[in-house]
Amino acid sequence: MKRYLIAPGPVAVDPHVMAVMSQPVMHHRSPQFSKILSQVRKDLKYLYQTNNDCLIFASSGTGGMEACVSNLLSPGDKAICIVGGKFGERWAEMCDAFGVEHVDINVEWGHAVDPAQVADALDEHPDAKAVFVQAHETSTGAMHPVEELGKIVGQRDGTVLVVDAISALGVYDMKVDEWGLDVVVTGSQKSLSLPPGLAVVSVSDKAWKFAEKAKNSHYYFNFLKERKAMAKDTTAYTSAVSLIIGLAEVLKQIRERGLENLFAHHRLLSGGTKAAVEAMGLEQFSKAPSDALTIIKAPEGINGQDIVKILREDYGITIAGGQAHLKGKVFRIAHYGYLSQWDMIIVIAAIERALNELGFKVELGSGVAAAQRYFAEHKI
Ligand SMILES: Cc1ncc(COP(=O)(O)O)c(C=O)c1O
Repeated sequence: MKRYLIAPGPVAVDPHVMAVMSQPVMHHRSPQFSKILSQVRKDLKYLYQTNNDCLIFASSGTGGMEACVSNLLSPGDKAICIVGGKFGERWAEMCDAFGVEHVDINVEWGHAVDPAQVADALDEHPDAKAVFVQAHETSTGAMHPVEELGKIVGQRDGTVLVVDAISALGVYDMKVDEWGLDVVVTGSQKSLSLPPGLAVVSVSDKAWKFAEKAKNSHYYFNFLKERKAMAKDTTAYTSAVSLIIGLAEVLKQIRERGLENLFAHHRLLSGGTKAAVEAMGLEQFSKAPSDALTIIKAPEGINGQDIVKILREDYGITIAGGQAHLKGKVFRIAHYGYLSQWDMIIVIAAIERALNELGFKVELGSGVAAAQRYFAEHKI
C-alpha cells in the first residue's frame, strides 16, 4: 500500500534529504563535520531571524523544553505557564519536576491566551522569572500571540519569555529578535522536515544572564557547555551527525527558497484545506487557527478516531486524532513537512470517502473542488 504521512509530526521527509543523510557517518570532532556545523549555526540564525546562539541537542523537542526549565531557573523560583493544551500542560509538569513554583494561566482549549491576562499575572507575580508558552499549541491548533507577549515580558528585566515553537518555527513568520522572544525551542520532526531526534534552542543575551545564575540540576542538557562547544563549531557531546547533515541540507534549501516563500507555501496548503473543511460542511476546532495544521471537529455521532483509522488502515494515509479529552472529537491534518498541495487534495478526498463510509453524507468532490479552486486562485 502506498503510504502518506500527513500528521503533525513526525513528518514526511524529502527522499533527497534522506539520501544526503545516508552518506557514511563522519566523526563528530573532524574538520569536515565542524565545517558543516559552522554553516548550520549561520543558517539556523537565518531560520530563527536572530543573532542569538542556537544550541543543538540530540533529543526530541521535549528535551529542548526541559533544557529551558532546568537551565534558566532554580528550585523555588516562580514561573508563569500558559496552559491551553497538552503542550502547555507539559511546561507546568516540567516546573513541578524541577521544583519551580508555577502560576498557570488556564486557557480554554482551542483559544489563544489574552495578552492582558499575562500582563496582569506578571503584575501580580513580579518575581516570576519566566513566562512559558507555546507559539502554536499542536493539540488544539491555536496560535498564542507571542509577538504581544514579547512586548509585555520585554519590559521586565527579571523575566524571560520562553517559547515552545516546535510546531511553529519555519511554518509562519516569527521574528525572534524583533519580537523579543528570549528562548525559542524547535524540533527536527516538524517544519524542519527531518526525522525526529534534534532539538534546537535559541538563547538571547538576557536569557544567558539567567542561565549563568540558575542552580537547577542538569547534566546533558547544559546551555553553558553547549554555548562553549558551539563557539568552536562542535557540540559538547557526540553530535547526531547524520541528522545534522540532514539539517544542513534542509537549511540550505530554506535559504535558497527564502523564508517568505516557505511561509507562503504553508499558507497555501492551510488555506486550501480550510476552504475544503467549510465546503464539506465541517467545522474547524481552533478559534485562533494557524497555518501549521487544520484541526477538524468530528461530526456529531462520529468518532474522530474511526476517521483516523479508516484513513490509516484502509487508505494508507496517516493523519492524527485528538489528544487527551479531544480524543475522538477532532482529527488533525498537518501542513508542514515534505508536502504539496496535491497531498492536501489526497487527504481531503480520503476524508470525504471516510465520512460517507461512517454515515455522514458529504458530496464526493465537494471538499476537493473547494481546495482546487483555492489553490488555483492563490498560486505562489
Ligand atoms: C508544541 C509542541 N511542543 C512539544 C512537543 C513535544 O515534542 P517531542 O514529541 O518532539 O518531544 C510537540 C510535539 O508534538 C509539540 O507539537
